[in-house]
Amino acid sequence: MKTIFEKTGLDEEKDNRIYEMASEILNRGGLVAFPTETVYGLGGNALDGEAAAKIYAAKGRPSDNPLIIHIADIDALKVLCSEIPPLAYSLAEHFWPGPLTMIMKKTEIVPHATTGGLDTVAVRMPNNRTALELIRRSGVYVAAPSANLSGRPSPTKAEHVRQDMDGRIDMIIDGGNGDIGIESTIIDLTDKVPVILRPGYITKEMLEAVIGPVDIDKAVALGKQSDAPPKAPGMKYRHYAPRGEMVIVEGKDPDCVTEKINRLAAQKKKEGMKTGILATDETEPFYKADYVISVGTRGSELSISSHLFDVLRQFDDLGVQYIVSEGFSRENVGYAIMNRLLKAAGGKIINTDESEE
Ligand code: TXA
Ligand code: MG
Repeated sequence: MKTIFEKTGLDEEKDNRIYEMASEILNRGGLVAFPTETVYGLGGNALDGEAAAKIYAAKGRPSDNPLIIHIADIDALKVLCSEIPPLAYSLAEHFWPGPLTMIMKKTEIVPHATTGGLDTVAVRMPNNRTALELIRRSGVYVAAPSANLSGRPSPTKAEHVRQDMDGRIDMIIDGGNGDIGIESTIIDLTDKVPVILRPGYITKEMLEAVIGPVDIDKAVALGKQSDAPPKAPGMKYRHYAPRGEMVIVEGKDPDCVTEKINRLAAQKKKEGMKTGILATDETEPFYKADYVISVGTRGSELSISSHLFDVLRQFDDLGVQYIVSEGFSRENVGYAIMNRLLKAAGGKIINTDESEE
């Protein structure tokens, strides 16, 4: 398949043509990758079971992993969800368009192919102009997982999507880089107390300020692979993972952390591995490895979240076999950042306060 590449935001007439072409593709059951404020999505018609099947095939993803449906209009909730608790409207009012996905009971119209066989559906209104225009103009509810090959870090740039999806889908729309960079917060509204199934930019505290008490799913809270069955089926697969082996080092004393990271990198280099260190602007000068890459500044959570997946992909491109990453505070967005890092590292974390080999 030949994949069409187009860039929005250059001139209006061209944008119109791009949206027309993309609408036509979506309406005939094809696939279009598009930007959102979190990561790029791989979109297809959510009400077309065959389009959903194509999405799974393009990603190489197991088809029991349900898709998020992207909407541009709050009225779509009534079409897609059969039980809408009042707090869903409060959340929508506060956080949509934005990086929050809500799970509710689905209506008949939503095929099980889109929901991975579940009777619930995940819905989100993205805060990105290209995404909203695409949904509005096509008149399609757009089912979209992150536009990466299954198991690879989510794409935050059109170039990442090209690497993974060229030749596998009909079209890629380049609308720039997402400013958040990690996937939406997922909240399940089907229980008495809402449960966070995946942490993101919208934190527990932000949600509680609007709707009161919110739980965090047990498997997510533990931060490591656990025996608790995952509520969001997607959380059970190895995710966000660079090809190299990865470990996180954290601790109270920054000097101890730096020393430990340098020591690990040196040791693996001696074993003949190509090494990489995921650093921050503040610490970058103190490291030594084949590649030291700063993910952003410790002064801004967004600078870290927006570059995280790109840095993991850079290590892949450089052929790095062993990556050591600094840890981050678990406060606010840091909670979601550490969730993604831990997944990338397969749960491997060393705390310099505890361990001394
Ligand atoms: O920010 C985002 O959410 C991005 C952009 C493209 O919108 N999308 C995204 O999709 O991250 P994906 O497919 O990579 O992750 C969707 C997650 C999976 O973990 C999946 O299991 C969960 O949402 N999910 C979807 N529908 C669900 C449902 N009905 N019940 C429980 N979990 C669900
Ligand atoms: Mg994904």
